[in-house]
Formats: sequence, structure tokens, C-alpha cells
Amino acid sequence: MTVPTLMTARLILSDVLAADPVAYQRNFNNYDVIGDLADAVPWPYPPDGVLAFFETLRPEQGKSRWAWAIYLKSDPAEPIGNVDLRRVAPENRGFWLARQHWGQGYMTEAAGAVTDYAFENLGFETLILSNALGNTRSRKIKEKAGAVLLRTEPAGFVNPAYTHREVWELTKESWQSRRAKKVSGCHGE
Ligand SMILES: CC(C)(COP(=O)(O)OP(=O)(O)OC[C@H]1O[C@@H](n2cnc3c(N)ncnc32)[C@H](O)[C@@H]1OP(=O)(O)O)[C@@H](O)C(=O)NCCC(=O)NCCS
Repeated sequence: MTVPTLMTARLILSDVLAADPVAYQRNFNNYDVIGDLADAVPWPYPPDGVLAFFETLRPEQGKSRWAWAIYLKSDPAEPIGNVDLRRVAPENRGFWLARQHWGQGYMTEAAGAVTDYAFENLGFETLILSNALGNTRSRKIKEKAGAVLLRTEPAGFVNPAYTHREVWELTKESWQSRRAKKVSGCHGE
């Protein structure tokens, strides 16, 4: 199974392993981005960090893991983020976006396309999601999607100010009923 290219109104998502690793590293290697991630990610981020990530991912990509690089349609050579789906929980989806592109709704759009793909093409019935307690940007994306908070539990993040994570469940039914309402709402306007 391959990782298909997904298109949204403003974005292109394609197999992360085809991304320019230098540009990817330039956009990822920022404490504002990495500080919010689980402490499995090294900080300071090593110069070969993205190449090491690609090599770890390669045997799983399109089999038990599906990872996309995000591009603006207006700049299809510059990978500005990632959405990563994993078959096996504790967490089925992760994402990051380059700092200079926050606040424009891009991750809601990118994660939406990947979530559709997970439910419609990969057979997921639920997605278990998580974020650091206090990472309100990531939390809001889950709330907007219709995810339900299951629990809060201790966890380590790159930014040591975070000490717990929130664990969410997004069901296929909840996601698809939100999507359907949004579509009919748009047609009704
Ligand atoms: C979390 C993260 C991916 C959010 O990315 P983002 O693109 O800014 O997130 P959103 O898609 O929610 O957009 C943010 C805001 O843009 C606003 N926005 C502006 N223009 C918009 C548009 N055209 N369409 C939709 N929203 C728009 C929205 O109001 C939204 O805010 P709201 O949720 O309060 O309504 C980003 O901050 C990040 O990479 N953080 C570090 C890594 C991280 O935390 N990863 C997750 C670990 S669990």
C-alpha cells in the first residue's frame, strides 16, 4: 500500500519520504514546534534528525504508518509540516506545522483530509489522539473535530513545563456526522 497524495482547498499532502529533507529540517527544527512534542523527540534537534526519522519510518510507511508532508499549493516544493497516522495506539495521529504558518487554519484542513482517509480508506473505526495538557492549539483541533476527552495522565514532553497529556477518542461516527453537517451548512448558505 502506498501513501496517496491528498488535496485540500489550500494544501497538498504527499508521502513524507519524498520531501526535501533539508527544507523539512529547517521548518521542523524550532523549539516552538518541538517543545510541544513528546520527549521521544531529541532536543537540541540533531543535524541529521530528519534523515534518521525518514529511515525509521521507511519500513512502516504505507503498511502500519502513513506520514504525509504538507505543502501550500502556492509553494509545492517547501514541506511546511507533517501529519502522521499510526495503526497501533497509544496514539493514532500526530502533526506539526512550521511556526510561521500557524493561525490560518492549515492544520485543521490537513488533519481533516488525513482523518477522512483513515476512516474511509484505512478502516479505522476510532482514532486515539493526545496532546500535552496546556497545548491549547492542538487541543482545539481535537475539539473542533468532535473528539471526546477520555483522561489526563502523566507524560513527558520536550518542554518540561508540560507534565501531563490529554487522551482523546474520535469515532468515525462522530467525525462523519460533523463533516456531513458542515457540508450541508455550506450548501445552505
Ligand atoms: C498545533 C498546530 C499544528 C496548530 O496549527 P494551526 O494550523 O495553527 O491550527 P488550526 O488549523 O487550528 O488553525 C488555528 C487558527 O487559525 C484560524 N484561522 C485563520 N484563518 C483560517 C481559515 N481560513 N480557516 C480556518 N481557520 C482559520 C482559526 O481561527 C484557528 O483558530 P481556532 O481554532 O481558535 O478557531 C501548530 O500550532 C503546531 O505545529 N504546534 C507545535 C506542534 C504541536 O503542538 N503538535 C501537536 C502535538 S499534540
